[in-house]
Amino acid sequence: MTKILNLGFLASHRGSNLQAVIDACNSGRLRANPAVLITNNRDSGALDRAHREGIPAHHLSTRTHPDPDALDREILRTLVRYQVHLVVLAGYMKKLGPKTLGHYTGRIINVHPSLLPKFAGQGMFGMHVHEAVLAAHDQETGATVHWVDAEYDHGAIIAQCRVPVNDSDTPAALAARVLEQEHRLLVETLARVTTGELRLPSAR
Ligand code: GRF
Repeated sequence: MTKILNLGFLASHRGSNLQAVIDACNSGRLRANPAVLITNNRDSGALDRAHREGIPAHHLSTRTHPDPDALDREILRTLVRYQVHLVVLAGYMKKLGPKTLGHYTGRIINVHPSLLPKFAGQGMFGMHVHEAVLAAHDQETGATVHWVDAEYDHGAIIAQCRVPVNDSDTPAALAARVLEQEHRLLVETLARVTTGELRLPSAR
């Protein structure tokens, strides 16, 4: 029997992507274990969800660790302590530090609510993305799962799915349709890791 995939999540706000993965694990659709949540926001919905689901959760932020290097070390230490194989950025609004990025190279994924490389980078998060899509009069948008490197929304794309833009769309309506697809795409991508179709480099 192959080893079960331990997932470590970083999330800042609502946590609906986290919940989608937890639900898939609980239902047996995804053979993975949500091992730990790290949040930089102790009022986040993600933290409430982790508590409700009995998943270990840690608040690590510039409040708990004002020194960026100390924060990076503690994030890495926490991921390693829970034997995390794959790190999932699920609405994490901060950059990871060099130690965590170095240790988990090729083992960190992010989900983004656009067809990257469009509508990417600093400031392109949440409703801003969908407002920009509508302002550009694009006829389609979508969701992307990609590997994470030191730049926002930048690493190699793993999977994308397209969502048509309707004439009557508001940013909120579009966001809701894209979010549904994000949840599906994220779970599908993780499933590809569990089957070995997507290979992770061996742990350092
Ligand atoms: C999602 O749109 C995700 O693509 C982006 O941040 C949002 C997080 O939503 N990176 P949630 O916290 O998972 O509900």
